[in-house]
Amino acid sequence: MSKTVTAKAHTNIALVKYWGKRDATLMLPQTGSISLTLDHFYTQTQVRFNDQLPTDQITFNGTRLAAPQAQRISTFLDLIRQQSGQTAAAEVVTTNHVPTSAGLASSASGFAALAAAASRAAGMTLTPTELSRLARRGSGSATRSIFGGFVEWHAGHDDQSSYAEPLQDPVDWDIQMIAVVLKKSPKPISSTAGMARVVATSPYYPAWIETTKHDLTAMRAAISARDLEAVGTIAERSAMRMHALNLSAEPAFTYFTADTLTAINTVKDLRARGINCYYTLDAGPNVKIICAGRDTTVITTALKQAFAAEQLIVAKPGPGITVTEDA
Ligand code: DP6
Repeated sequence: MSKTVTAKAHTNIALVKYWGKRDATLMLPQTGSISLTLDHFYTQTQVRFNDQLPTDQITFNGTRLAAPQAQRISTFLDLIRQQSGQTAAAEVVTTNHVPTSAGLASSASGFAALAAAASRAAGMTLTPTELSRLARRGSGSATRSIFGGFVEWHAGHDDQSSYAEPLQDPVDWDIQMIAVVLKKSPKPISSTAGMARVVATSPYYPAWIETTKHDLTAMRAAISARDLEAVGTIAERSAMRMHALNLSAEPAFTYFTADTLTAINTVKDLRARGINCYYTLDAGPNVKIICAGRDTTVITTALKQAFAAEQLIVAKPGPGITVTEDA
């Protein structure tokens, strides 16, 4: 029996999006990306290796996962077993601290926490950079959830060169995000499959690679200048171009719903009234609004004309991963 290790990782929202792989086995992205780690949403995962177990036993929010759902996690644990020499099956207990049915990205915090807890339980001592590379093999966005604050994932060209590093942590200026949690619609396509279809079929993909390079440079400068307007403008542009790729894929798809457009229009109306706020969206209908903390009340008041108070969650920049070991 190995020691029991618990890791806590926060989710992150990309401001310059990752949308496409160039190597699906090594999980190398087509472009770099930049994100903000949030304080409000996190995953806590406990792992121990147990040679009495025939197969990995994975419990998610109190429910034991069946084989098909557990497969992606077991494949990731195989990689850790391969790298560490650990041969036993693992007991994994994961709790997602994301408000019920929020449907906000959990693979980022999930695989970051799993990478940290499982590698340490398997006897490995990894630096944050090594942990970032390892988390990448579970889910691309997990690469960034090792670190707090603003984070950049360098695309790289092989396993060694593709990892994230902090750009600014702690974040010492007033930037927050409001998550607008919208009614769940059946997800048209997973992020993994959606981005693969886009890379394979969108005639605009080469333009995405080019414009993302410029967005990365501009975003680094905006973060370092602590310029909310610039951060928001670039983030909105990157998100809309990513979603335009989906509409240009074959067959076309979109994660937008009618409520998504209502939330976007509310942000635009607020901006017309002089309030500095911007939106971004990931592989789902939820809208995340980038704004200053001092404006969250006026923004949530406007949103409440269309949405219930429980659908609005205000989050601040959050910390990097933490790991604790039991005896
Ligand atoms: C839209 O990291 O979920 O949130 O690497 O296939 O696991 P896989 O995909 P995932 O994709 C995240 C896409 C995104 C943008 C981003 O987080 O950069």
